[in-house]
Amino acid sequence: MSKIIDGKAVSAQVKERIKAETAALKEQGIEVGLAVVIVGEDPASKVYVRNKKRACEEVGFNSYEYALPEDTTEEQLLELVQKLNADDKVNGILVQLPLPKHLDDKVIINNILPEKDVDAFHPVNVGKIMIGDYSFLPCTPAGVMELIASTGTEIAGKECVVIGRSNIVGKPQAMLLLHRSGTVTICHSKTENLKEVCRRADILVAAVGRAKMITKDYIKEGAVVIDVGMNRDENGKLCGDVDFEDCKDKAGYITPVPGGVGPMTIAMLMQNTLTAAKVKNKKM
Ligand code: GUN
Repeated sequence: MSKIIDGKAVSAQVKERIKAETAALKEQGIEVGLAVVIVGEDPASKVYVRNKKRACEEVGFNSYEYALPEDTTEEQLLELVQKLNADDKVNGILVQLPLPKHLDDKVIINNILPEKDVDAFHPVNVGKIMIGDYSFLPCTPAGVMELIASTGTEIAGKECVVIGRSNIVGKPQAMLLLHRSGTVTICHSKTENLKEVCRRADILVAAVGRAKMITKDYIKEGAVVIDVGMNRDENGKLCGDVDFEDCKDKAGYITPVPGGVGPMTIAMLMQNTLTAAKVKNKKM
């Protein structure tokens, strides 16, 4: 029987620490602010944005929400981004993705000041991650690292397999594991012998976006299995990329969905926003 990694509990610890630091900054007259921008009516995005706002309240940040209509033009969105770039009360800017089809994510992200880019999506921050000079840690991969750390598992020298090569998760995840001296393999839709490669992993991170794709034949006995997936199963129930029921007796540690990686992503966003405020106010 594997141990279930409780993402809610780990994220609560992280948020408690952030809350204490935020309160200490407030005593010095420094407030922390996060601006969240959502364009259109995507239901999943609305839930994410609501959760981010709630997390801001929990840790004592000011949150500024901008809900723009679906037909917002690039010019209008860029105008808002520039306004937030110049606003001293705003330490972090998050533009919720995906944007409606007529808007280009890259153009928008490239216009967020790198020092306010708390998603770590701007090319300057992506480049810094590559060379291990972190200002902001990419939120989901950083959350995964915290969850691995919570198991006490040493990464150095271990076989780490990341399934998925997205810019948001797969690629930065591989970098973070590599910086901890893991032996890292990135798998994707063209990978041959996927099962065999995954079965080598001491640490397996699944970020594929396919419901319950990873069954016990993909995992090594005792492996740490981290599930980044957020899908709906055949009954419309929230589930991950890993078939939890099938894998839970074979893995050493495993994250559930929901309650695994999800809460960590938001905790790390709070961490990045606090970092942005500290850097701006020369507190680190
Ligand atoms: N959409 C899904 N995940 C994310 C995220 O981490 N950041 C942003 N900005 N949009 C997302």
